[in-house]
Amino acid sequence: MTRIVVVGSINMDLVTLAPRFPDPGETLTGDRFLTIPGGKGANQAVAAARLGASVSMVGCVGDDAFGKQLYDGLAAEGIDVGHVARIDGIGSGTASITVAGGENNIVVVPAANGRVTTAQVEAARELIRGADAVLVQLEIPLDAVEATLRIAREEGAPVILNPAPAQRLPVEWLSHVRFLTPNQHELATVLGAEGESDFRELMRRAPCPVVLTRGEDGAWFRDKDDEPRHQPGFKVDAVDSTGAGDTFNAALAVYLAEGLDTAVRKACAAAAIAVSRLGAQDGMPRADELAAFLETHR
Ligand code: RIB
Repeated sequence: MTRIVVVGSINMDLVTLAPRFPDPGETLTGDRFLTIPGGKGANQAVAAARLGASVSMVGCVGDDAFGKQLYDGLAAEGIDVGHVARIDGIGSGTASITVAGGENNIVVVPAANGRVTTAQVEAARELIRGADAVLVQLEIPLDAVEATLRIAREEGAPVILNPAPAQRLPVEWLSHVRFLTPNQHELATVLGAEGESDFRELMRRAPCPVVLTRGEDGAWFRDKDDEPRHQPGFKVDAVDSTGAGDTFNAALAVYLAEGLDTAVRKACAAAAIAVSRLGAQDGMPRADELAAFLETHR
């Protein structure tokens, strides 16, 4: 069984379905409100577990009601939560999400996610040592991200770094990453090359292999020094793209042992299923659903 360690954020998503996005200063009547577990780290952990991986999560929740719900939810997915800390005196991370016409906008308040420390990552060193993949994103403090990259390098564990939300990163952080998984905007930001509009050129400039997500266009990928290759996207009716990128990252990690082409194809398919459903973790497919989708979508 593929062993995955995720170091990242755990949020409660506060989701409002609206007929359209409100203008600044405008009040709109929405259609529905839901609370759905989210956070880029937790989403990637849940998606990987549903696809059949053995997953350990490293992160923080607060001492509020959301914290208990989020912690229990991860455990109920079969995820090892031994390195998820419950922090006193602070709330859990939240994401206020408006969904309209299949698109979303999101405001994240990190709260307890801001308390993930290098010591907490160090405490998970043994798990990282045996991992087939370590997944990390940028919704936790950057020193915890750096510690994850360093410890994974020391322990010989491949890292998939999803640079979201986008921030410029030191080049030396990237040089040992097995795959960087940005969208085009994130890749330009990470490299400090915001003026460059040619995504293939950005991929060539990156100091590590890149799997670039392009929404409906699917993904482009480049391992080592080869030219970028393309996996077209799968056509679905878009309901909500929240968590689709996280599903992509998880599937990439779970199926990497089958070869990069297959892993990217399955990651695009898993993300397409997620886009066709409402909610981050609510929309993530199980391995049998992914297999059935791939049977009917060539
Ligand atoms: O990637 C999607 C996630 O981003 C949401 O679940 C939300 O919590 C934000 O962190």
